[in-house]
Amino acid sequence: RIYSRIAGTGSYLPSKVLTNDDLSRIVDTSDEWIASRTGIRERHVAAEGETTVDLAYHAAVRALEAAGTGVDEIDMIIVGTTTPDLIFPSSACLLQQRLGIAGCGAFDVNAACSGFLYALSVADKFIRSGDVKTVLVVGAETLTRMVDWTERTTCVLFGDGAGAVVLKADSETGILSTHLHADGSKKELLWNPVGVSAGFDEDAKNAGVRIQMSGSDVFKYAVKALDSVVEETLEANGLDRHDIDWLIPHQANLRIIEATAKRLEMPMDRVVVTVDRHGNTSSGSVPLALDEAVRSGKVQRGQLLLLEAFGGGFTWGSALLRY
Ligand code: ACO
Repeated sequence: RIYSRIAGTGSYLPSKVLTNDDLSRIVDTSDEWIASRTGIRERHVAAEGETTVDLAYHAAVRALEAAGTGVDEIDMIIVGTTTPDLIFPSSACLLQQRLGIAGCGAFDVNAACSGFLYALSVADKFIRSGDVKTVLVVGAETLTRMVDWTERTTCVLFGDGAGAVVLKADSETGILSTHLHADGSKKELLWNPVGVSAGFDEDAKNAGVRIQMSGSDVFKYAVKALDSVVEETLEANGLDRHDIDWLIPHQANLRIIEATAKRLEMPMDRVVVTVDRHGNTSSGSVPLALDEAVRSGKVQRGQLLLLEAFGGGFTWGSALLRY
């Protein structure tokens, strides 16, 4: 049997940091409000001209280095992103060119904040089928590009960043299962309702490109959906909640993370938290948290990791893997 296994991880954050105090000089907010409601204290913001593919490139190079994998070994590139550099070519094609290779399949997956888990799941299926051996899977975003900086209910939540993994075929178990879900009927609760086909709003600032969100509704749905996908994952693998070594959740809100940890009866010191320093980096958040946990020595080879995410769409999903 063929399994897919994470051979190496990498991540990248833009150097510019925006603190809650910085934000309180832009909109009517405070460090106290943001930190107590979300757990966020600061976030990284891409510099002018710095794009999603720039962040993806640095994260990818670090993951390839960690895996000891040469670019010529890559059979496929999948980028989870909602903030591609261009409408087309895809960010995966642009990344392929930046890596100096050509020929392998390369495409983007848009599942909002669940983008990395969707991309990882697709990569896992390609490897298990025997079609490819090595896939570069990236979650990269510059969400601050579509934030309305006058809207305090959303602009305090997001940051920019990227994470990547090199996924390789292996005879030993790596990814045990992935679980993907979506519910398009809730689209208006978290969306950016302009685009090429639906049209842009020429008179609006940034042509109407901005995140619109009903925060408390998203909060409730996220907690419920994550509870259910976590249960589904444990059941599918015949596992008890206490078998999980590390929970590596999407980093949107510390209170959502704590709710999932409670459901799993996991103490917070077994949960990887980066939301305080990264904010919500959408598709970047899970691979960023994973890379940080690996590089800090928290996550060790052989441990059982539960990754999960929830985002616009709605979309949500999980992956259970032995690192
Ligand atoms: N600073 C100060 N006050 C604020 C701010 C702010 N930045 N934002 C909102 N408020 C005010 C509101 O105006 C409101 O005031 P009012 O009572 O006078 O009307 C009050 O604070 C409470 O607002 P709520 O929206 O009810 O606050 P809540 O406790 O729900 O927290 C939050 C809001 C943090 C957005 C929370 O609902 C949340 O995290 N939801 C989930 C969001 C999320 O995860 N989104 C990303 C999903 S991933 C993706 O796909 C992009």
